[in-house]
Amino acid sequence: MNPVIMPPPSHDQATRLRQLVLDKKDTVARSKITGMRSVAILSGKGGVGKSNLAVNLSLALAGQGSRVTLLDADLGLANIDILFGVMPKFNLGHVLRGEKEMADILFRVGERLTIVPGGAGLRELADIDDQGQAWMIDRLSFLENGTDILLLDTSAGLHRNVLAFAMASNLSILITTPEPTAIRDSYSVLKSLWQSTGGDLNVGLVVNMAQDKNEAEMVAYRILAAAEQFLGFKAQYLGCILWDAAIRDSVRKRRPLLLGGENTVSVPCFKDLAGKILGPQTEIGEIKQNRDEGSFLRRLLRQMARREVN
Ligand SMILES: Nc1ncnc2c1ncn2[C@@H]1O[C@H](COP(=O)(O)OP(=O)(O)OP(=O)(O)O)[C@@H](O)[C@H]1O
Ligand SMILES: [Mg+2]
Repeated sequence: MNPVIMPPPSHDQATRLRQLVLDKKDTVARSKITGMRSVAILSGKGGVGKSNLAVNLSLALAGQGSRVTLLDADLGLANIDILFGVMPKFNLGHVLRGEKEMADILFRVGERLTIVPGGAGLRELADIDDQGQAWMIDRLSFLENGTDILLLDTSAGLHRNVLAFAMASNLSILITTPEPTAIRDSYSVLKSLWQSTGGDLNVGLVVNMAQDKNEAEMVAYRILAAAEQFLGFKAQYLGCILWDAAIRDSVRKRRPLLLGGENTVSVPCFKDLAGKILGPQTEIGEIKQNRDEGSFLRRLLRQMARREVN
């Protein structure tokens, strides 16, 4: 039996969903958010809204006072630049090869948001020798010093590089839509994360393109309850982004929704999610699974070396 294909939750099950979230809060020690915290955005199925979440969440976090760096870590089809309507010519690969300085590849959106085109450069990071990695860590350390939240937009599925990003991050946001195929693929991602980490990873679920909050809660319940029941893996429900035609328009106009100033149905959703991520309940201050402390990049390089990123 596919554990995710279950009947919709009853009222009791919705109560149980809230309890799952509360249990999660109790089981993880509270920690103060200091220094840079990293948040990887993952999905099982493609096209469920990772990049739009990355863009609008980064704007919402910056709007709430955080200094945010958005790293386009989709090694296949990087498209954060398209969503922002900019055309960067260079990426981390150019810095890695000594052709450009970090300052040449970054672009800034307002005072508190910086975007880093990762491109193929992120893959090349895994291949450089120790000396080159130390040089790169040095190059990137100024970003870590000036950043409160590093958001990573990754590619769909749990390929080795995406797993390395998740393992190096303080929080992994798994995004799904209410479609049965997306629900099934989200469960598969949770299963793979559980197999790689024994479940010792902070994972938060976001349901995108929901018609309303009830639908999103039902979807979340099906995934989270199955993960807990069949894997013993507790993830938390972070919230939903409602289906919003204005998001599609914003993609066509190449201007992120939250830069447009309109107050359409999904705008409060992004803001609520930002508030939740910055709040004490999300526990993104703690790196779990005894993974090495230190800079995000150091952790990422270790994870990449372990997984021979391709
Ligand atoms: N809440 C929403 N309401 C309506 N449309 C949405 C919503 N979120 C995303 N979309 C639309 O869904 C499409 C896919 O979004 P997006 O590119 O962010 O997905 P993705 O997960 O990054 O895709 P990929 O796996 O290819 O990287 C876009 O056309 C976008 O406009
Ligand atoms: Mg994308």
